[in-house]
Amino acid sequence: MPEYKNLVVEQKGAVLIVKVNRERALNALNKETVSELQQLFSYYWSDDAVRCVIITGAGEKAFVAGADIPEMADLDVRSGTDLAARGQYLMKTIQNFPKPVIAAVNGFALGGGCELAMACDIRLASEKAKFGQPEVTLGIIPGYGGTQRLPRLVGRGKAMQLILTGGMIDAEEAHRFGLVDDVYPPEQLMEKAMEMAELICSRPPIAVALGKECINRGLDITLSVGCDLEKANFGQTCCTSDKNEGMKAFMEKRKPEFTGH
Ligand code: CAA
Repeated sequence: MPEYKNLVVEQKGAVLIVKVNRERALNALNKETVSELQQLFSYYWSDDAVRCVIITGAGEKAFVAGADIPEMADLDVRSGTDLAARGQYLMKTIQNFPKPVIAAVNGFALGGGCELAMACDIRLASEKAKFGQPEVTLGIIPGYGGTQRLPRLVGRGKAMQLILTGGMIDAEEAHRFGLVDDVYPPEQLMEKAMEMAELICSRPPIAVALGKECINRGLDITLSVGCDLEKANFGQTCCTSDKNEGMKAFMEKRKPEFTGH
């Protein structure tokens, strides 16, 4: 397993737990952390031993409080565009990663932190989590996909409110608007994230990957093209051993034993 300066990585069974570990800066994503996350997802892309990833933040206070503000102070047109490109590339990598990624949002998820959570496939939050896109208060706009993913999750009006005021919402409101999928007491968050990750890991990984791809790519294309993608991916699942095992086990009234093939 590679070593990282700003990430703590632990593998429990087939679940990879990734903790952004810059507590003194509320886990803000400096360039080095973005680059380490990029390396991590590339490294585990085709590692069959990892079937689900959980991302969380170190400490009690923050998931990720945004991009690193001091690093952005001297940005100009060129370096600003470059910073956004790198961040967006990471978010796209997470979205296209062939295994599910769960955000366990344990505290502030602001700016690039909210964008990181939104690039994940499932968002679980602690009751203490707070969400927002405060970039406008710094004279900028979200740059890691927030203007695009937020309206897709919460609708245009709420996204406008959050991005144009820079205000924060709590976990309960984020849940009400569809920005998070479930909310738990802080002490239960990781346990619940693990439970979900382990349940996903018990399912056949090819079907999981193809289902994820259909949902994520489908949201970017028309309904009829999305249904074409689903048809093709459905066909792909039908040539797997796990499909034969799943059907057979059902008919024999026993638990399936999936092999990942
Ligand atoms: N970058 C770098 N350092 C940060 C940071 C960030 N995004 N957020 C917090 N920190 C640092 C603070 O500077 C502080 O460090 P020092 O102790 O050395 O001064 C430390 O973390 C603790 O923060 P606070 O003392 O401010 O803690 P608080 O409890 O009073 O406030 C907070 C918490 C409301 C989250 C506040 O820290 C805050 O507003 N942070 C900035 C949030 C933000 O604006 N994020 C968006 C960044 S822009 C972006 O992300 C652009 C993009 O899309 C690409």
